Amino acid sequence: MRRSDFFKTAFGAAAVAGLSGFRWKGDKAIRPTEAWPAIDPEDEQFWRFVRTQFPLTDERAYLNTGGLGASPYAVIDAVKAKMDELEKIAETGHSDELWKEVKTAAAQLLGCDATELAFTRNATEGINIVCNGLPLKRGDEMITTTHEHVGNTVPWLGLLKREGIVVKLFEPSTVSAQENVDRIEQLLTKKTRLISVPHATTTTGQILPIKVLSALAKPKGIWLFVDGAQTAGMFPFNLHELGCDAYATSGHKWMLGPKETGLLYVRKEMLDVIQPKIVGAYSAAEFDLAKGTLDFVPSAQRYEYGTVSIPLRFGLGAAISFLQKIGMENIWKRDQSLSTRLFMGLKSIPYVSVLSPESSTERSALVTFKHEKIPFGDLQRHLDTYKLRTRGVGEGGVNALRISTHLYNSHDEVDRALEAVKTA
Ligand SMILES: Cc1ncc(COP(=O)(O)O)c(C=O)c1O
Repeated sequence: MRRSDFFKTAFGAAAVAGLSGFRWKGDKAIRPTEAWPAIDPEDEQFWRFVRTQFPLTDERAYLNTGGLGASPYAVIDAVKAKMDELEKIAETGHSDELWKEVKTAAAQLLGCDATELAFTRNATEGINIVCNGLPLKRGDEMITTTHEHVGNTVPWLGLLKREGIVVKLFEPSTVSAQENVDRIEQLLTKKTRLISVPHATTTTGQILPIKVLSALAKPKGIWLFVDGAQTAGMFPFNLHELGCDAYATSGHKWMLGPKETGLLYVRKEMLDVIQPKIVGAYSAAEFDLAKGTLDFVPSAQRYEYGTVSIPLRFGLGAAISFLQKIGMENIWKRDQSLSTRLFMGLKSIPYVSVLSPESSTERSALVTFKHEKIPFGDLQRHLDTYKLRTRGVGEGGVNALRISTHLYNSHDEVDRALEAVKTA
């Protein structure tokens, strides 16, 4: 059976052709009543306007985008509208056209080809696809950090338990990017098959030198996997330039997408290396049960399967439109302005030590700090009383507090956080 035949029989011809009512609306999803002012990253007034595009309450300062991002009305409205539309006719709403449009926009954001992207439910699903799809066997070695999020830890431990791969660890140094490259180099052996690192660590927000690591890994035939949960939507980058083999991210953090969305990038040359293990409708180009034949689609869509929520994918497209309307360079300028203010402010508070890197090129919009006299759990509770939502960092024994600032946060909220830490 050909893929298009499957869609015709399963969903009706309209699903293949793409119903006009299902068209991706892009910018039109943004509330038409709001006239956007000129976009100027230096203008506080502009960022105040951006904040009005989110239902976020002013009473509580939301400083945990690293955990979960807030969505703008543009995304919420898009999800609701698509759900209303589809529930009237009880159709899935899947169309190749929608897939292409959202993935083309995502590819533009991430610097890759649309055919190298798969929709996932979260970063963890993307990590699992890579981890379980790579041909790793007993005794093969992988190198990773001691600062991984649970989502990039448990899948590899599962593989260790099941297949007997060997996991080698290094502690990321926040002193310099080069120190991390050196630490990885020291762990390399003839059995090293994979390096798995975050683009920015969940612990201190340190941005790791992916391009340098690609240059180190590639000539040795070592695969490089990047956990990008903390970077897509925070700053601009180009996956082709970074040169990694695969990259998994969440749609529901810095990208501002609906909850339970994610993207997996697999470099086209790796599509036949990373085997699709969970497959079904959407993975296959042609299949014949009687003949026992199966050809996967020649794109990363081979990692997708079964019925999914179209309103969520539609909403992810609206989130990308929102980011692109402001521009990733502008968003990064804003995120840097907020996190630098926080970083410098925290450094001037007695008993506080900041764990995030000094170097501005390695520092992201996640700032992590400790109080010498107060356990981080207590400090977090103290900040809670100021209605500040932060995140404790227990990973890697860091035992500190993390504040993330994104485009909807303000300098006032940063100052509120600094004031609260001062009074601890
Ligand atoms: C570095 C990193 N990887 C993976 C994840 C898991 O993301 P998700 O919940 O989208 O699977 C997170 C979440 O905080 C993270 O920070």
